[in-house]
Amino acid sequence: MHSQASAGAAERDGSGSGGFPNSGEILRTQALSKIFHSGLLQIIPLDGIDLVVERGEMIAVVGPSGAGKSTLLHLLAALDTPTSGAVYFAGNSLRSLAEAELAEYRNRAVGFVWQRHYLLPDFTAAENVAMPLLVRGKTLGQALQAAGDWLQEVGLGGRAGQRAAQLSGGEQQRVAIARALVNHPSLLLADEPTGDLDERSAESIFELIERLHRSHHLTSIVATHNLALARRTDRVLVLERGKLVPAREVSAGAAASVARAAVTGSKTTGERG
Ligand SMILES: Nc1ncnc2c1ncn2[C@@H]1O[C@H](COP(=O)(O)OP(=O)(O)OP(=O)(O)O)[C@@H](O)[C@H]1O
Ligand SMILES: [Mg+2]
Repeated sequence: MHSQASAGAAERDGSGSGGFPNSGEILRTQALSKIFHSGLLQIIPLDGIDLVVERGEMIAVVGPSGAGKSTLLHLLAALDTPTSGAVYFAGNSLRSLAEAELAEYRNRAVGFVWQRHYLLPDFTAAENVAMPLLVRGKTLGQALQAAGDWLQEVGLGGRAGQRAAQLSGGEQQRVAIARALVNHPSLLLADEPTGDLDERSAESIFELIERLHRSHHLTSIVATHNLALARRTDRVLVLERGKLVPAREVSAGAAASVARAAVTGSKTTGERG
């Protein structure tokens, strides 16, 4: 996919220099909708989302459990397809891409961090981070070298040879973040990356994401229930009833429901039937 490859190359070439092209639109959704069918019930988590994301932005997406945050991130990452509407990356509709180009988009343009790390427990931290590079055809030596550098960067320099299963939850999430970024994506999509962690680990993982976002000139979208962390991003968007609205435009009632959900994890869905 030419424009994506060139967008990524432009970002890598910048490597922090003054001429870094860290502005302009990178991602856009147009009337993006997703409908799920569950028995007779129709669930519409996304009902015509129009979102423009500028290069270099860090955005938080909040909303009650079941609102559709994960669904949105999956569509942005091309891990699922919309019922209608479109996602554009660097001006290209994902719909227009052939399967091989979509795979390239998922593997190279996007780094995805999940709430659970999904590391391979019997492999070392370095092997887990190296995996995406091996998939791309790098030699084991090259891949482990890059993985070692990334582990250093996420604060686990001394733990490269340790099995993933022997790391703490916070350390495993650091490995997962290194794995998500090892291919130098332009976009970091994180789905409740601190959801499984205690308050202190959540804070330090969020700090790490903020630091990497800046130092690697990422564009980041983070779904979270943690409003205190969300407020530290450039923009907080609230997903409710299938629509994405800036936090400041949210009605008092909806804000209270988001806050409640953040505390209790209670289920208020965007279902319509
Ligand atoms: N594959 C599916 N089939 C049917 N319904 C689905 C499917 N995936 C998600 N849903 C429904 O879509 C709605 C949105 O789910 P989603 O997981 O995106 O919410 P969320 O905002 O990420 O919630 P949470 O904060 O709990 O992670 C929910 O009602 C969910 O049950
Ligand atoms: Mg979710």
